[in-house]
Amino acid sequence: MARYSQEQIEEVRSRSDIVDVIGSYVRLKRSGSGYVGLCPFHNEKSPSFSVSPSRQMYKCFGCGVGGNVITFLMEYENYTFPEAMEHLAQRAGIELPKQELTSREKQQESLRASLLEVNKKAARYYYGVLKSSRGTLGYEYLRGRGLTDETILRFGLGYAGQGGGELYRYLKQEGYDDRILQESGLFKMEERGVYDKFWNRVMFPIMDVNNRVIGFGGRVMGDGKPKYLNSPETKIFDKSRNLFGLNYAKKGRHKNIILCEGYMDVIALHQAGFTNAVASLGTAFTEQQANLLRRYTSEVLLTYDSDGAGVKAAMRAIPILRRAGINGKVVHMEPYKDPDEFISNLGAKEFAQRMDKAQNSFFFEIQILEREYSMADPEQKTQFIHEMARKLLVFEDKIQRDNYQEALAAQYNIRIEDLKRLVIRYGNQMPEGYQEAMEDRNRRQRRGNSPEPEKGILYSYRLLLSWLIEEPELYGQIKDTITPQDFMDGQYRTVAELLYRQLEEGEVIPARIISHFQEAEEQNAVAAMFQTNLKGELTLPEREKAVNELVMKIKEYSLEKQTGQSTDLGELQRLIDQRKELQGRNKLHISLKDG
Ligand code: CTP
Ligand code: MN
Repeated sequence: MARYSQEQIEEVRSRSDIVDVIGSYVRLKRSGSGYVGLCPFHNEKSPSFSVSPSRQMYKCFGCGVGGNVITFLMEYENYTFPEAMEHLAQRAGIELPKQELTSREKQQESLRASLLEVNKKAARYYYGVLKSSRGTLGYEYLRGRGLTDETILRFGLGYAGQGGGELYRYLKQEGYDDRILQESGLFKMEERGVYDKFWNRVMFPIMDVNNRVIGFGGRVMGDGKPKYLNSPETKIFDKSRNLFGLNYAKKGRHKNIILCEGYMDVIALHQAGFTNAVASLGTAFTEQQANLLRRYTSEVLLTYDSDGAGVKAAMRAIPILRRAGINGKVVHMEPYKDPDEFISNLGAKEFAQRMDKAQNSFFFEIQILEREYSMADPEQKTQFIHEMARKLLVFEDKIQRDNYQEALAAQYNIRIEDLKRLVIRYGNQMPEGYQEAMEDRNRRQRRGNSPEPEKGILYSYRLLLSWLIEEPELYGQIKDTITPQDFMDGQYRTVAELLYRQLEEGEVIPARIISHFQEAEEQNAVAAMFQTNLKGELTLPEREKAVNELVMKIKEYSLEKQTGQSTDLGELQRLIDQRKELQGRNKLHISLKDG
């Protein structure tokens, strides 16, 4: 990945006013010292998205996203960090010096660009064939399935001819060498020669959210096997992070997004006017895809096939959606197998009615669970209810859980108190904060950070960092007690170092700290560190008590950890003394009233 110097990043960031940039995507209204608008990352009716000109940051109180002008573009346009930099530099009229790339980085960058080119050329080629006399078979097939010329063009559908080597010859002519073509996944390179991977198939180009072709799905015309053949994963094609049709579905404000299984379903739905349909790419729905969807909607309608495999897929997708904070619903398509068949038989109007009747995904899960038990048998019914009680624990919001408990108690003829008691019993078997701790751990494992401080301490770090940004006056009072070295986590420590430096210099610009990091995931994590607030309104004495406790907690943890890690006797003694002293003090006398 391209690396920019901190000076370059800072120049681009500081000359790209966040209100101007976001204002070109989101209608912003002045409110107090900042601006508010409808969040572009989730669907909402009243504005909870706010942009702060003084801090040059945005934050959504609804879905929790936040960051600076660079992360905004990365999120909204799905740009990489260098792409966002280039975009903003151009906008601000800044000439970015050519990147000092290592030769390996140069190769990677140009490989990516070449692969995008190859895929684009291939898509054009397949489309051209479809529309030529050589493509009659494919064209007739698609028309036979009810697609109009307009739809074919919109989705760039094509045809891979019978020859077996046409695309290869074409791209060679265009000057691509075998190494690039090999990496594109569109060819089989064998000792006997090179063959097109796709032949005699209608082709579905797969585009990312920025309309760039990143791969293909190809369908046989008839009953051949395999029915669908897809591009393998390549440097530009990550199946778990893209969704077919999202480049179109993301446009315009839809109430929800329809998630289906097949390319044909998406296309048929779009043609019928449901331009909010997307599909995963021949693989199971992933957490990354759910996070991607969350940028555009807060409600997803599942239209998985009503056969066994489809139900299984829906049962896997529902918890993933739930974890991403998306409300999932299930659209029933009986007696048809998928939206494509449904629409061609019953039409768009009936489909819209089914959408309106979409089932709450929790009830769907319970209904599927119920099938495993014979409700006439008291033993089995008991087991079922126990299982249901365990499942109810996914709802952490008490009111929400109560509502479900009431509905289910009524439906299965159980006394509500009994059900509640059972749920509480199972709840008590789970250690407190268990779920959150697990999630935090999983996130870190994915990032490859293994040594993991307890989750409570990370919350304390976030709280202190946010607090210092809100009230820089606090800094003078805590800096002797808590230094960046007291943050026992690499990323937090770096952030603390940067923030302390700014506080020393008397100029706090959190947006700058965020863009110190170049990976999107890091930036999101850092943005989140700055947006942690104490819950609820506190009085001054309460806030003072809280900040004192917070500082104590961080210091104690730091000393404890350091003691555990130290092997030097002298240092150990020093640490032990410090701990004693701290415990003896048990109050730090940090005052929030005056500096
Ligand atoms: N799929 C795949 N490989 C297969 C079969 C299916 O990758 N051998 C993926 C494709 O992405 C396909 C989706 O799974 O779009 C759904 O498959 P299926 O339900 O079998 O096909 P339909 O979408 O109904 O396709 P069609 O209507 O063309 O038969
Ligand atoms: Mn189908």
